[in-house]
Amino acid sequence: MSDILEEFRDHVVIVGGGLAGMMAALRLAPQPVVIVSRGKLAGGSSSALAQGGIAAALGADDTPSLHLQDTLRAGDGLCDEAAVRSILADAHQAVAALERAGVSFDRDATGEFAFGLEAAHQRRRIVHAGGDGTGAAITHALICAVAAQSSISLLEGVEATAVLTADGSVSGLQILGPTGEAVIPSSRIVLATGGAGGLYEATTNPLGNIGQAIVLAARAGAILADLEFVQFHPTALACSRRPLPLVSEAVRGEGAILINDLGDRFMVGVEGEELAPRDVVSRAIAAQLAQGRRVFLDARSALGAGFAARFPTIHRLCHEAGIDSAHDPIPVRPAAHYHMGGVAADIRGRSSVEGLWVIGEAAATGLHGANRLASNSLLEAAVMGLRAADDISGTLSRNVSLGGLATGTCAADASAVRAIVSRQLGVIRERCGLQSAIASLLPLARSAGASRDPALTALLIGVAAILREESRGAHARSDFPEKRARADRSFLTLEEGLAHADGLVDNFARSA
Ligand code: SIN
Repeated sequence: MSDILEEFRDHVVIVGGGLAGMMAALRLAPQPVVIVSRGKLAGGSSSALAQGGIAAALGADDTPSLHLQDTLRAGDGLCDEAAVRSILADAHQAVAALERAGVSFDRDATGEFAFGLEAAHQRRRIVHAGGDGTGAAITHALICAVAAQSSISLLEGVEATAVLTADGSVSGLQILGPTGEAVIPSSRIVLATGGAGGLYEATTNPLGNIGQAIVLAARAGAILADLEFVQFHPTALACSRRPLPLVSEAVRGEGAILINDLGDRFMVGVEGEELAPRDVVSRAIAAQLAQGRRVFLDARSALGAGFAARFPTIHRLCHEAGIDSAHDPIPVRPAAHYHMGGVAADIRGRSSVEGLWVIGEAAATGLHGANRLASNSLLEAAVMGLRAADDISGTLSRNVSLGGLATGTCAADASAVRAIVSRQLGVIRERCGLQSAIASLLPLARSAGASRDPALTALLIGVAAILREESRGAHARSDFPEKRARADRSFLTLEEGLAHADGLVDNFARSA
């Protein structure tokens, strides 16, 4: 029998200690909040690793409508335009809230923001803090702000294992910590657990990011959206370290070029060249690698000896991998970086389950469509952290009764699914591979073992990927290389996903 943590009854429970979760907790103060985090605050979050900054149309030459154009173009026809307008409009407010929380953004000699440029942005509009160490600088400031806030309690080293519901509304969170299982009775839960890149062998995400919110919310009955859209960053540092260190797009923004081991600059002739949308660049690099070539980011002419000063974090990461960023071309490869899909959420962060909010990468608000514009993710995390908190502040805690506790939960382990996901759900997909992935994942997703949750997330991504018979944004099908004239966002529940998977596995078995 699980302990009931009465001391947190009526607290707002936030699962995840990255940027979105901490912003929400700070905004809710002085309302009592408990943050449940797998590791130390920000320790297992992608926010802390972010090298890109916050995209915000704050420059004199920029407007939210130019930012809107770029976001819609990157999203390749699947953004929810109203959500995009609404989230981008709060960029100024989010940057100001971060400054109030102690973040010091980089400024030029005149005191203005020092805007950086990234792919597919028509203006320099990326604000950084600590240059290419932006995620670390932001999360450090927020950790200090959270520590100073007595209304926020922390449960670190604790996994969320189930969102409990009664009559279709949230009634509590089941957790697993060092001392065993327990339940926090609460009618208001926020999931801010990040993405699903940890399902892949080559990823820039913390390896523990395996789409926990997708599993928790789906089992509680929530609708999921856009799951097939996984963004691969074109230039992760090709080395043995995991997760793979990122070589920010900002390096290409400063003029670095992509070459193969024959010295060919293979992006010449492609619209946008090295600063084409990242799905285009990822596919071009993947095609080179498939031909047996190696690929390098060459910053020798653009930055040379100035590399270390401009990109100190990347310089250090290269150095640790035995590469001299000033004199060597940097070996790169695509890596899973961001999940556009997640739990369907509106622009208040509400999911389809009463009492369950989902924010940051875990959510699918429609901001990113089929492909996220660089540096829109920290922006979304900050804006939606504030929005969800404001929405929650307007609700009352309900008395909850607890029933239907899950038993025998164990910590998730994605090692058995990574090879399947990496092989069949990578940069290029096709029907046979997807069917075989689904056939391998289905029994794992129905098992009681440690692979169960990561296999379920991967399975649902696989089902969404097989159902989208076109190539759009980050979803590329070699058997359906064209874009359909009309396409919509995809929505799926757990029952629908499992029913599709059962049907596909039956067909696969019959045709084998
Ligand atoms: C980068 O710095 O290239 C990553 C930025 C992002 O993913 O938004």
